[in-house]
Amino acid sequence: MGSRLAKLVLAGTAVAVVVVLGLFIGRRTPDVATTAPAAPPPKEALAPAPQPPFADPYQRSIAIYNFRKAAMSGADRGREIFYYKCWFCHNEFAKGAPPLKGVFQRPQLSSGRPATEDGIKDEIRNGGPGMAAYKYVLNDADLNDLAAYIRDDCCWDSNSPPPNPRYRGNAAE
Ligand code: HEC
Repeated sequence: MGSRLAKLVLAGTAVAVVVVLGLFIGRRTPDVATTAPAAPPPKEALAPAPQPPFADPYQRSIAIYNFRKAAMSGADRGREIFYYKCWFCHNEFAKGAPPLKGVFQRPQLSSGRPATEDGIKDEIRNGGPGMAAYKYVLNDADLNDLAAYIRDDCCWDSNSPPPNPRYRGNAAE
């Protein structure tokens, strides 16, 4: 008789524990609902730099995605960005966009901005009549590389565009 009572008490306790636990877990606010502190607004409205920086030379898709097939940085990388994002307007055949060769030597840009590195970056960030703004697409590193290319190397003759940097067919043995 006593052991039966003990079993009953034990079972009762177990049920109580389950019910209390169930209530406790059920009433807990889910983790997602905890109010996270609002992220501070970005300092400069520019596309973020890729994090972590691209490091694996064999991960070709990342190289393509980050415009780093030709070089990790510098004018060669600027040329790659120019090829994908700018050339289709800024070339010898399209009407409307001014040629960019020697743009650093002009008295000023057609938008009135100074023909300096800052003025040209401002043009690329914020665009102009007929030109898109790239501030949400290109980050500071992209703009530095583009400016280096436009200043030092710009632009190729569209009838003999630069070769694919990975093409080795003509390379000397
Ligand atoms: C949709 C066509 C188009 C694309 C794409 C484009 N541009 Fe332009 N760009 C223009 C036009 C049109 C102007 C002249 C309007 C102005 O001065 O604001 C211009 C002006 C400029 C100027 C000032 C030149 C001057 O003499 O005034 C620079 C520098 C420039 N673009 C760089 C770039 C770069 C770098 C890219 C790629 C990231 C780019 N553009 C993409 C159409 C384009």
